[in-house]
Amino acid sequence: MIDFIKKMPKAELHLHIEGSLEPLMMFELAKKNNVKLPYKNLEEVKNAYEFTNLQSFLDIYYAGANVLITKEDFFDLTWAYIIKCKEDNIIHTEIFFDPQTHTSRKIEFKTVILGIKEALDKAYTEFGITSNIIMCFLRHLTQEDALKTLNQSLEFKDLIIGVGLDSSELGNPPSKFKEVFKKAKKEGFKIVAHAGEEADVSYIYEAIDILEVQRIDHGVQSINSKELMDLLKESQMPLTVCPFSNIELKVFKDMSEHNIKLMLDYGINVTVNSDDPSYFKGYLNDNFISLYKNLDLNKEDIIKLAKNSISSSFISDELKNNYLEKINKFILE
Ligand code: ADE
Ligand code: ZN
Repeated sequence: MIDFIKKMPKAELHLHIEGSLEPLMMFELAKKNNVKLPYKNLEEVKNAYEFTNLQSFLDIYYAGANVLITKEDFFDLTWAYIIKCKEDNIIHTEIFFDPQTHTSRKIEFKTVILGIKEALDKAYTEFGITSNIIMCFLRHLTQEDALKTLNQSLEFKDLIIGVGLDSSELGNPPSKFKEVFKKAKKEGFKIVAHAGEEADVSYIYEAIDILEVQRIDHGVQSINSKELMDLLKESQMPLTVCPFSNIELKVFKDMSEHNIKLMLDYGINVTVNSDDPSYFKGYLNDNFISLYKNLDLNKEDIIKLAKNSISSSFISDELKNNYLEKINKFILE
């Protein structure tokens, strides 16, 4: 079964590219770019990656991103993730990036997006891996700042499929960003948002009703409302669930208590994702394997999760059918 999981063709729909920055690359870039890190060695990094909640992680994650300066840095970061995609048989990936984390440090928007894009183009030419880029607004900042970022992005609209909402959830509900998402929608961007990672179901309702999202990122708190569970089931609204992230950020005590299998069995359109794999101790296949071991997922569950990842992506129907066929062929091998 583990071999089956590893080889299964799959898509990843919730991956922060800044969260794939491995400690070794962090040290190399810090040295190259003359950026001071709060760690002396890899051992200290490992010790620092012990989180109590989302905010305790974000503080460390934003500090790590400071080493990213040049277009080549963003290329190298993204390319390293693509190598992991190849290893995990990820055939399509939808990558988040946080422009404000970089523009606030005077790194130009174009430096970030062009570095990421160059690596994704290479992923397609070398491995046939397809991808989309989603730009996330930092919800601890103002809507005005998000609007400024949206305006900056318009020059690169062809490179960005959608907009999302991430960072500190509690106290920053989706409704805070109503206007910027309305404008993004008008500009033709797909809409997603982190909701119900730590905060209650009202955040998920707001993401659906006010931001008009096409996917919910995380959404694991849905389990607290039967009404919402029924709505998600009926609408087949995708949830991009990130099991390792939820354990590391103490949303669940351990993997055996994770609710993804309950939601899957209920008929909700859940997918498996790695969120910030370098910080949460595992990439996509590690997440799948842990779910298999701790929640007794069977072969049908694995197939359904992989198919959900393809059908919930922002690719064309034609490519979806092609990829679903790939999965069907793989199952019969
Ligand atoms: N940014 C990176 N990872 C995140 C997460 N899990 N939740 C909110 N913002 C994030
Ligand atoms: Zn996330």
